[in-house]
Amino acid sequence: MENFDFIVVGTGIAGLSVALKAAEHGDVCVLTKRSAKESNTAWAQGGIACVQSDDDSFDRHVADTLDAGAGLCDEDVVRTIVSEGPDRIDELIELGVAFDRQEDGAFDLTREGGHTRRRVMHSRDTTGQEVSQKLIAAAHAHPRITLREEHFAIDLITTGKLEYASHDRCVGLYVLNQRKGEVVTMRSDRIFLCTGGGGRVYQFTTNPEVATGDGVAMAWRAGAVISDMEFIQFHPTCLYHPLVKNFLISEALRGEGAILVDKDGKEFMQKYDARESLAPRDIVARAIDQEIKRTGGPCVYLDISHQEKEFITHRFPNIYETCLHLGIDAASDPIPVVPAAHYQCGGIRTDVNGASSIRGLYAVGEVGRTGLHGANRLASNSLLEGAVVAHRAVAHATERFRTDGSMPPKSYDLPTWQSGDVADVDELVVIYHNWDEIRRLMWDYVSIVRTDKRLQRAARRLRNLRREVNEFYWGYRITTEILELRNLIETASLIVDSAVARRESRGLHYTLDHPGKHQSTRSSEFSRF
Ligand code: SIN
Repeated sequence: MENFDFIVVGTGIAGLSVALKAAEHGDVCVLTKRSAKESNTAWAQGGIACVQSDDDSFDRHVADTLDAGAGLCDEDVVRTIVSEGPDRIDELIELGVAFDRQEDGAFDLTREGGHTRRRVMHSRDTTGQEVSQKLIAAAHAHPRITLREEHFAIDLITTGKLEYASHDRCVGLYVLNQRKGEVVTMRSDRIFLCTGGGGRVYQFTTNPEVATGDGVAMAWRAGAVISDMEFIQFHPTCLYHPLVKNFLISEALRGEGAILVDKDGKEFMQKYDARESLAPRDIVARAIDQEIKRTGGPCVYLDISHQEKEFITHRFPNIYETCLHLGIDAASDPIPVVPAAHYQCGGIRTDVNGASSIRGLYAVGEVGRTGLHGANRLASNSLLEGAVVAHRAVAHATERFRTDGSMPPKSYDLPTWQSGDVADVDELVVIYHNWDEIRRLMWDYVSIVRTDKRLQRAARRLRNLRREVNEFYWGYRITTEILELRNLIETASLIVDSAVARRESRGLHYTLDHPGKHQSTRSSEFSRF
């Protein structure tokens, strides 16, 4: 058994910010199931929303966030995160993150849907990559941080499962060392889940392969409260191309004047919202869904050809080059786009310090549900949340540790991993089939427009799939594929159960059977115990 003062799972902005701050207080182990470079953060194009100009204010940013959140944001949390943003941005700049600036040195701020001011700080169209690279370099250089790649966190160990049980609290983790195929037991008083979201639950997504809902599934199995999982954000503009499945066309293009048009080149957003192409994402995604159904075409188009080629290649080099490679010259051709699953607004319920309902367990970033996003996230608020809540979580965890007597004595052994059968999986085809089936059924039955019937159908199928996956989990030697499938199904089931429970249409949850907002402004909440 290994002991660390802090264990962090995940290497996006949340995980590495926690690690760097926690390392000021003790030894930190950071676990990630692939390489540190693979995170949702690294794929973020748009940027970080943060008040930085004289014509903007915290009040305006708070108001825009509340407006997008459709009555389910926690206003105190929104205000805290928005107002602590500039300090966290300064720290990123100290680490070397280069945000784009204008000739006079002021930040080059862009706009995205739902923002009434230019406030999105960015590094061309690869902001996430810039942030991720600088954080990884700092973590590698830190003597108190041990970074373990290809280590899959399987399950949390809580005192509820031990004889020592004055309170239920988190005391460790089982982790699969994927290189050796061995499970190790790791012990820590303070565990931070920073595993991102679960976009891979859907057939079409802008998320990387790692986004399989691992943190939510693990916390759910341990008994943590999970909230608001019905609110899955569909990004309106994912590239539509047979060769490239999950490439995002940043909303910042619309911030710089790109317009959505149908196959005949006609604008359509004016039919749906006065803010047209810059309306909040739930509205734009639904409008595109409707236009695709109306015209029978496979996609709509995003047209930025009014901008000079030089501007496009300088401001959006990644998008321009990727499209050009596929034969689309964004300076003259409209870009084919479709909506795709992008962000999980719900997650492990936490306070503004990332503290979950289980002592010693923190959730930071997309995996957590602080109350910032409510029923619909305002664009580019998520990297901001990751940085601010990481800072607060470490402060909370280190302060609380001094007064918390609920930890079992260090001499208390944690139970070692019990593997079921030791046979190797003989039929990988079943795993891949189930994986595809979950993603397809979630897309067909639980995406942008929902109905009671479709949700019930999805719930039934998921129950059967869960039984099959559990047979695999208990019957064979565990592998990354089995673990991801198990988490994917847990996450999908939580989305469906939360969607069934919300009998109204609000923010990202839109159902033909319950149009309009009816329910009181309460979050959905689920816990196994
Ligand atoms: C984008 O660049 O459109 C994505 C930004 C975000 O999801 O916050």
